[in-house]
Amino acid sequence: VLLPTPEDCGRVVADAVIASVTAAQAGGGPVALGLATGSSPLLAYREMQARHRAGEWTADGVRAFLLDEYVGLPAGHPESYREVIRRECTDELGLEVHGPDGSAADPVQAAVDYEAQLQAAGPVAVQVLGIGGNGHVGFNEPGSSLASRTRVKTLTERTRLDNARFFGDDVEAVPRHVITQGLATIREARHLVLVATGEAKAAAVADAVEGPVSASCPGSVLQLHPHVTVVVDDAAASRL
Ligand code: GLP
Repeated sequence: VLLPTPEDCGRVVADAVIASVTAAQAGGGPVALGLATGSSPLLAYREMQARHRAGEWTADGVRAFLLDEYVGLPAGHPESYREVIRRECTDELGLEVHGPDGSAADPVQAAVDYEAQLQAAGPVAVQVLGIGGNGHVGFNEPGSSLASRTRVKTLTERTRLDNARFFGDDVEAVPRHVITQGLATIREARHLVLVATGEAKAAAVADAVEGPVSASCPGSVLQLHPHVTVVVDDAAASRL
């Protein structure tokens, strides 16, 4: 979906997420909603909250699942992804949030545990995704296996620099390791909704959507999925 502005993208992403959640609720039982951190989905989360306040949808039976988490931040750290998503999205909706335990003494085991939790709770009805400037999704950096499962990864210098803005512009404060759902894990969601806005994402969007399916651009894994909605503004679409 190509749209003029980020605000338009937020509305369309919210439409897509609410429609998939509502359809899953109609099937009965708990619904797993996959959420992404990062700035890209924020307008969509605002819109989901506004429509929830307006009574246009309910979050009954919905549980939120995170894509990824930093390793080594203490539980409750304001930049841990669990805290970010609570603040930006789920507290207002009243959703329980599940994610990898980045503060665990054994992060490798925490990754295995989160994968098992997803397998037990899934499939995720709809997964919101952003994309990094280098094509990463979740924290699957370039070179990530297309068959990967939830595991510990090391961030690239570029991603740490990109995220330093959340840590007082101090790249040394950005954790080096993360736990992320793997590309095969992400692909198990029933519906993937990727949102990207701004010129800085144009190359990554073009590689993900029109390039070869390759570990060099983790976002290209979307091409292997039967139900994907890509929502981009004109700037992010400029290299398509
Ligand atoms: C972060 C997150 C991703 C996110 C991406 C883009 O590092 N781990 O889930 O999609 O980078 O972030 P932004 O939307 O702020 O550009």
